[in-house]
Amino acid sequence: MADKVFITGAAGFIGFHTTVRLCKEGYKVIGIDNLNSSYNVELKKSRLKIISNKYNYSFWEFHKNDLEDKNSLEEIFLKHKPKIVINLAAQAGVRNSIINPEAFISSNILGFHNILECCKKFDIENFIYASSSSVYGNNKKVPYSEKDCVDYPVSLYAATKKSNELMAHTYSELFKIPTIGLRFFTVYGPWGRPDMAPMIFARNIFSQKPIRVFNNGNLSRDFTYIDDVVETIFRLLSKPATLNNANPIQSEVSDFSCPHRIFNVGNGKEVNLLDFISTLEQIIGIDAIKSFESMQLGDVQKTLANTSLIKDWIGFVPRTDLRYGLKQFIDWYKKFYSL
Ligand SMILES: NC(=O)c1ccc[n+]([C@@H]2O[C@H](COP(=O)([O-])OP(=O)(O)OC[C@H]3O[C@@H](n4cnc5c(N)ncnc54)[C@H](O)[C@@H]3O)[C@@H](O)[C@H]2O)c1
Repeated sequence: MADKVFITGAAGFIGFHTTVRLCKEGYKVIGIDNLNSSYNVELKKSRLKIISNKYNYSFWEFHKNDLEDKNSLEEIFLKHKPKIVINLAAQAGVRNSIINPEAFISSNILGFHNILECCKKFDIENFIYASSSSVYGNNKKVPYSEKDCVDYPVSLYAATKKSNELMAHTYSELFKIPTIGLRFFTVYGPWGRPDMAPMIFARNIFSQKPIRVFNNGNLSRDFTYIDDVVETIFRLLSKPATLNNANPIQSEVSDFSCPHRIFNVGNGKEVNLLDFISTLEQIIGIDAIKSFESMQLGDVQKTLANTSLIKDWIGFVPRTDLRYGLKQFIDWYKKFYSL
């Protein structure tokens, strides 16, 4: 019988795609999401409708639930006894964390702690959680390696993600819970987040409104296509962290080790913001109206992943070509918004 997987943030961008893939692969999936209004709730509901209606999976159960509601979480764990937990629910985004810091502490710290407690209480065999490339702050050295110091976050969002890594490590050390933290680098694709650059740019280019180009375009990102992120998570389901395969980074500084690993998940290519916009313009067939502005508070100038650790672990690294990925994204965008 296929393992039961508990996914948080199932109505979110990455959670939705992960749920669809796992259902297709025959896993029994139990999803939760509080459907908060951090962005358009209708988009989240549409994603859920796709899972329920289009594919009509034999085992998919959804609960509208807060991570902060520990009792309800425990009831779901007790009922289903999942073996694998994937935590993708979080308040996400650097700018939102400046506007609404309380929500970030509540979901990303208190909520995350509740999930860890459930993992402990119900003997979870594989706990995978979303961290973020934002933990690297304004790291000077590129590409970013998991060995680099991540003690200097430049947003509360990044600080909560780094806290998650520390909390997960502690629970792994104390209770031997196999845990894997994934530092995602700017994920994009169909059903993407409306608060992220690809969606904001597409919306404004189609409606011929100016797009805000921060730091006068002197920014670069490692853009990672959603299918590659899902493939990574899928492969990790059968490759949990183990005590035998000690974390090479921890073993350099400590005699202790625990089944906790952290991996970069990025495409390994640095894309300049103006090149990104130009590719989008070509695919859409409309020139963007650009409004050049200074650097945004909490933003970082560049991100780029060193992906050798994840490659060694699962034999796969994200590799989707940006133009191909953006074409898939724009095709979806036009269909979804009837353009
Ligand atoms: N998309 C990216 O580029 C990216 C990059 C780095 C890290 N991440 C991380 O990956 C994860 C998934 O990101 P995403 O892009 O799918 O974001 P998303 O906002 O689309 O999905 C997160 C989902 O979690 C839900 N949620 C938030 N707080 C909750 C709570 N307290 N209880 C229950 N549900 C809650 C939201 O309603 C949302 O549907 C997040 O942890 C995010 O921080 C994403």
